[in-house]
This record gives sequence, C-alpha cells and structure tokens, in this order.
Amino acid sequence: MDNIHVLKFGGNAIRGREDLMRLSREIADMVADGKRVILVHGGGPEINEEMEARGFVPRKVCGMRITDGDVLDIVETVLRRLNADVVGCLQECGVTALGIPGYFCTLCTRKPPFKGVEDGVEVEVDLGLVGEVAGVDPASLYDLLEQGILPVVYPIGKDADGRMLNVNADTMVAGIAAGVDCVEMVAITDVPGILADVKDPSSKYDNLTLEQVDALIADGTISGGMIPKVDACRKALLAGVASVRMVNGRDKEGIMTGPGEGTRGTVITK
Ligand SMILES: Nc1ncnc2c1ncn2[C@@H]1O[C@H](COP(=O)(O)OP(=O)(O)O)[C@@H](O)[C@H]1O
Ligand SMILES: [Mg+2]
Repeated sequence: MDNIHVLKFGGNAIRGREDLMRLSREIADMVADGKRVILVHGGGPEINEEMEARGFVPRKVCGMRITDGDVLDIVETVLRRLNADVVGCLQECGVTALGIPGYFCTLCTRKPPFKGVEDGVEVEVDLGLVGEVAGVDPASLYDLLEQGILPVVYPIGKDADGRMLNVNADTMVAGIAAGVDCVEMVAITDVPGILADVKDPSSKYDNLTLEQVDALIADGTISGGMIPKVDACRKALLAGVASVRMVNGRDKEGIMTGPGEGTRGTVITK
C-alpha cells in the first residue's frame, strides 16, 4: 500500500479541542490530497493530572513513565478518553476515523531494565509495566486504510500472554512506522524541533544525522522526552522509512504543511 504517512502527537503539543480541531483540519487536507494517514497519540500531561488528582506522583526516567498496575489503570483510562476526543474531532472534519489500542495492531514485550542517560549521566532504569513494540500486524491497518478509515492509535500494548503494557507514544509510533510500508513518520511535539538550547526556540537544528544525535544525547543536550523521540526516529530510519521529522504542534501557521515547509522542524537522516 502506498502513500502512508504515520503521524504522532504528544499531549503538550496538542491539547484541548481547539488544538485537536486545528490538527484534524490539517489531517483532513492530507486525506483529501490522497494521503493515507495513521495517527498515534500520547497524553502525558492529562495522565499526570489524573494521577495527581488520585494522589499519585508521576515519575519519569529518560522521558518514560515508571508504571505499576495502578498507574497503568490510570494511563489506559485517560488514553481511551483522549482517543475518543481525537476521533470525534477528525469525524467533525469529515474524516472517517476509528480509535484502536496499540494491541489491535502490534505485539509488545515488557521493556527489560536498561542503562540510560539522564541529563548526561548514565542511570540504571526499571520502568515496570512498560512495553516495547516487538511486531506489527500491518494487514490490520491496511484493512482499515483500504476502507477509507483512519486508524487513531492509543499506545497501550499487550504481550503474548495478553498482559497490558504502557508504551511511550514515541515508541509505539516508531514500531508502527517500522512495520508498515510508509513514506514518512512525523512526530508532532511542543518545541520547534531539536534545540541546541532547550530554552532558546531559535537554536533549532534543521537537520541532524543519527551520529550527531548520539553526541547530543551523550553531552546531555538531548534529554527527557526528547530521548524516546530520537530513539523512535532512529528505529524508523533503520527500518527504511524515507523521511523522519519532528515538528512543532504549536505552530499556528500549519503543523506539517504551510509556509516555510522545507525548514520546519528537524529532519533526521541516517
Ligand atoms: N535538545 C532538546 N531539544 C528540544 N526539546 C528537548 C531537548 N531536550 C529535551 N527536550 C524536551 O523534550 C520535550 C518533548 O518531549 P515530551 O515532553 O515527551 O513531549 P511529547 O508529548 O511530544 O512526547 C520538550 O518539551 C523539551 O522539554
Ligand atoms: Mg513524550
């Protein structure tokens, strides 16, 4: 199947109905242009809020949420609710969309404890009930796309024994992009792209190679939520996805398209 674009947005980038409608209108234009879109979303800030309301303290290491059974319940509930909102906005914009959990189209495994880099320092991490994508069933997605249905995926996975796992949305989108025949993967986030100085939006890199990305992780320039995002870009690129980029969901002139399209966001190449 050709012309598949795999998009992902995070909860900071696109939050609330106004943002969702802005994104949905742009996606509706892509669909009208003949593009086939698969959309994956996160919900970090909404999950944090719900956790705090229930007396839990959100904890993340290397940009990924430490997840036990209680946290997983909250994550799933919040993501399902958000997913319904996303589908609703797309439908309002004339796009036929269907909300599905990650386990509809992927098989996940629990992420084993690993050594990561946090703010330039190596740390030993056990995230708990957090998953990685081990395999994708592309036919389940192609079936929907062929019927003109846009899959909207929330990142809850299951392992081979049917145990639910929390999957970072960037990890989920990379798994899906790597497993389907897509022309591009776009991560929509709340910064203009990868920045040399997180506090300075004008310090954006227009292009980076994976080697340059590695150096920026090692020296602590890339940290937090940017780490699973660049890992996602790496996975997609190594799987042969031709175009991998990160763009700013806060950009009111157009998130993926519009004026200055060529220099929007950060394009990552092998
Ligand atoms: N070098 C960097 N350039 C840009 N953002 C960075 C960088 N290092 C860390 N970040 C952080 O990564 C965040 C994006 O990740 P995250 O908060 O998980 O958002 P999302 O919801 O899009 O996944 C940015 O808001 C920023 O705070
Ligand atoms: Mg994130």
